[in-house]
Amino acid sequence: MVEVVRHSRRAPAFGIIRERDHLNRMFLEQLHREDYRHRTAIDIGTGTGRVIWEIASRVHRVIGVDRDERRLMEARAYAGIRGFGRVSFVLGDAETTSWNAWHSEPFDFVTAHLCMSGAIIFRASRHLRPDGKLILGTHHKDQWQENGSGSGHSFTEDEIRDLLVENGFEIEFLGVDTTIVECADLVDAERVLGPTIVRKWVGDGRWEGLADSFESGTRQITLSLIVAKARKLAHGPVSE
Ligand SMILES: C[S@@+](CC[C@H](N)C(=O)[O-])C[C@H]1O[C@@H](n2cnc3c(N)ncnc32)[C@H](O)[C@@H]1O
Repeated sequence: MVEVVRHSRRAPAFGIIRERDHLNRMFLEQLHREDYRHRTAIDIGTGTGRVIWEIASRVHRVIGVDRDERRLMEARAYAGIRGFGRVSFVLGDAETTSWNAWHSEPFDFVTAHLCMSGAIIFRASRHLRPDGKLILGTHHKDQWQENGSGSGHSFTEDEIRDLLVENGFEIEFLGVDTTIVECADLVDAERVLGPTIVRKWVGDGRWEGLADSFESGTRQITLSLIVAKARKLAHGPVSE
């Protein structure tokens, strides 16, 4: 069984605000360790294509899937501007649609950054070729714990390990990258989280939860990501 690699740090808010839109370092490190030449990949929950831009110049073909057409339009516009011809973006639900609908051959790589569920791991296993790899980054249960409810989509490292093993994967890397962001006040918190998350939290009560936590003296926000890389075993579950 692979050891869980744990990176933990404390950092002041001003440092993290600068990094807010960057992809996680541990995830990037695992992504960039692979050779994408002559390979096909699918990026699940691609959003505006951030993961795809990291591999687009090397991969033979990559498909980004998302169920949000507005984000895909942005992604397609970037692909056009950057001249990436072997990249395509499709609208669809990766949990409920068979991935054959987007590409009939098995993939060499599945990537999924901040879009994860048991159904996605199940389908990744069925649409990867034997020895193909799944590279994922997903919120850890500790993510945003100070708001009283955490993240709506989070896992423990044991949950991710079990899902991967149950679906016929051998885990090559499992890590948890945690940053505790020290904030002076809620204005710092607002800048660390960004307007989209703040708007959501104001609507669902998590902002109030965070304000209570700051009031009681805990002026920090935990950011914690699980990163995993797993190889599809030849004798794993068969195709759909
Ligand atoms: C937090 S964003 C991450 C976007 C991108 N991976 C990144 O890191 O920049 C999550 C994305 O997953 C998409 N998504 C969530 N569930 C999905 C599903 N079942 N099928 C396809 N896309 C999904 C959302 O529409 C959203 O664009």
